[in-house]
Amino acid sequence: MIDLARSSSLLAVACFALTVSCSPANEPPPATPKPNAMPVDPPAASAPAAAKAPPTTTSAAPAATDAKPADDLADRVPDIEYVPTPQNVVDKLLEVAKIGKDDVLYDLGCGDGRIVINAAKKFGIHAVGFDIDPKRVAESRANVKSNGVEHLVTIEHKDIFDVDLSKATVVTLYLLPELNVRLIPQLEKLKPGSRIVSHDFDMEGVDPEKTWTVIARDHREPKNREHYVYLWKTPLKKTKK
Ligand SMILES: C[S@@+](CC[C@H](N)C(=O)[O-])C[C@H]1O[C@@H](n2cnc3c(N)ncnc32)[C@H](O)[C@@H]1O
Repeated sequence: MIDLARSSSLLAVACFALTVSCSPANEPPPATPKPNAMPVDPPAASAPAAAKAPPTTTSAAPAATDAKPADDLADRVPDIEYVPTPQNVVDKLLEVAKIGKDDVLYDLGCGDGRIVINAAKKFGIHAVGFDIDPKRVAESRANVKSNGVEHLVTIEHKDIFDVDLSKATVVTLYLLPELNVRLIPQLEKLKPGSRIVSHDFDMEGVDPEKTWTVIARDHREPKNREHYVYLWKTPLKKTKK
């Protein structure tokens, strides 16, 4: 479990209001997110290169509705920069979500598509990745293709705050504490028994079922650090005041 007494130092590196850069820190995550803290380094140089292939269209996974057309997103700045989740943390997120054959996984801010691709390859489930950054969308779609999971995985160029989550049963997040909180009204629309798993960041106001610590490389190679995995189930349990 997480040492709450140590958590305040992460607040200084966890989030950056408005410009919002994601730089997972070397300290435990905050139990109570604090906005306006400064980020640390820029995202990993180790992030996979953007795909050169043009985006492809797939129709395998259930489509989410209610999102703005991609044209409206042309000038939209991402709420958080791209930082990839290390593979062993991806494995842990999928393990604790206890994925079954009928699950449908949505990754909100899918980056290079690694979580949705892993979910499809390991569990044979349908998965949808959403990203607002066209470079990430193209990269994800190329990775979906090169991994041969086009029949299971769809990548959508959408703002996660406009996505209808009602068809998902597992939602994965690697965002920021305040973005997790902003998603609560959407997450409350998930079917009962759905699982939400978050890399590194809590969701103030909703009690997690459980948290885990995973040692993995930070995006600023080669330093290892503790990464945190949070699990919530629906219906969400509001924190008692
Ligand atoms: C920290 S990365 C996580 C990538 C991936 N989920 C992973 O764990 O490896 C966050 C991603 O969210 C995307 N993003 C930021 N704001 C978004 C928004 N409002 N809607 C959709 N995607 C967004 C960024 O472009 C970035 O790819």
